[in-house]
Amino acid sequence: MAKMDEEGGHHVNWKDGRVSGAVYHGGEDMQKVIVAAFERYCVSNPLHPDVFPAVRKMEAEIVAMCLKMYNNPNGAGVTTSGGTESIIMAVKTYRDWARVTKGITEPEMIIPISAHAAFDKGAEYMGIKVHTIPVNPETRQVDIKRVRRAINPNTMLLVGSAVNFPDGCQDDIVALGKLASKHKIGLHVDCCLGSFIMPFLEEAGFSVQPFDFRVEGVTSISCDTHKYGFAPKGNSVVMYKDAQLRRFQYYVNPDWTGGVYASPSIAGSRPGALIAGTWAAMQYMGHSGYLESCKSIVTAAKTIAHRIRTEVTELRVLGNPPASVVAFAAAPGSSLNVLEVGDKMSKRGWHLNAVTNPAAVHIAVTRLTVPVVDQLIADLKDAIGEAKLSPSGNGTMMTLYGLGQSSPVGPTMVGHVAEAFLDTLYKA
Ligand SMILES: Cc1ncc(COP(=O)(O)O)c(C=O)c1O
Repeated sequence: MAKMDEEGGHHVNWKDGRVSGAVYHGGEDMQKVIVAAFERYCVSNPLHPDVFPAVRKMEAEIVAMCLKMYNNPNGAGVTTSGGTESIIMAVKTYRDWARVTKGITEPEMIIPISAHAAFDKGAEYMGIKVHTIPVNPETRQVDIKRVRRAINPNTMLLVGSAVNFPDGCQDDIVALGKLASKHKIGLHVDCCLGSFIMPFLEEAGFSVQPFDFRVEGVTSISCDTHKYGFAPKGNSVVMYKDAQLRRFQYYVNPDWTGGVYASPSIAGSRPGALIAGTWAAMQYMGHSGYLESCKSIVTAAKTIAHRIRTEVTELRVLGNPPASVVAFAAAPGSSLNVLEVGDKMSKRGWHLNAVTNPAAVHIAVTRLTVPVVDQLIADLKDAIGEAKLSPSGNGTMMTLYGLGQSSPVGPTMVGHVAEAFLDTLYKA
């Protein structure tokens, strides 16, 4: 197994910084801190706080630190296994809240087309109807007028991202907050990807639009400690405006034969080691560490955006991304197929993400990307030259989320291929 990781072959080497997102820190020092925490809390389980009191305290402190970062020190939250679970839990919370407080039995939610697939997943699991609203093609922000028109008596929740996955742009959270307040419904801001970048932008000297609990109408926020918080994979935080709203997330069964059962989120037993690893990573980084990482990562992302805008006329940057993600599509009037450029980048060792509406390629800058920005731009120019010189006519870069690599499969087959792909993951 170790050889599979070390010896190259077809897999991508994440350590050289050419992978979009996926591994957010990768430093030896951080790895040692996390492993030390794992070792000490290897078998711990927060389902039993009486047996593992330190794990309970660490989880509470992770949540408290995130609430402080997002300017709601008196709010409430829980840790989960990742951004997707945080979002699914929020959807469940609003479903139960809407039923109890508003009598809504056929709940609906309104999400931007740029919102993460986890919202659709949560809605499918929880039986919620979803209205998907387009974004403004220039700003990439959700069309507020259309959100307003979609609101009806069954609406329980609005969603905005800060920032979204496809193009790294931020919705107009203030406008969404006004709508949510007016209609007395929830507004969830997805800061899973924005995580430990968004809250530090202002102090780092970058401009940023309001996005946190200070915005009137924001009732919950998801923040992934396992992205720019540099925690080990498997940790995220979902935060609520107050403890009362969090109650709707809990599952409590007082009549179970095995005893009174109460758990905060989907899992029963949970890995205390991940909580310890997350807590250790956060202590190790501290405010100043996160501030510095925000400065270097966002400077790199803004450099990429600026250099594409000024040096690469065949491409255009989507919207005005405020944080760490930059997406680029073919410039208006250009015959360039951007997915083909993505293919050529893959050949040069890059693992970028292909996104749709419009076809574009994105990179989520991590600490590993910071030193290879010049190489990215050079390779991009090279890849465009090659794509123009020998256009195949169809970029085959896979838009299957999480794969992001070349594949000869067209979009119509993607659904079947995605299922087959998942099957394959379990072939021993
Ligand atoms: C904006 C956004 N929300 C949610 C998620 C889901 O996070 P996870 O993959 O940790 O479940 C992601 C992941 O990339 C994301 O970018």
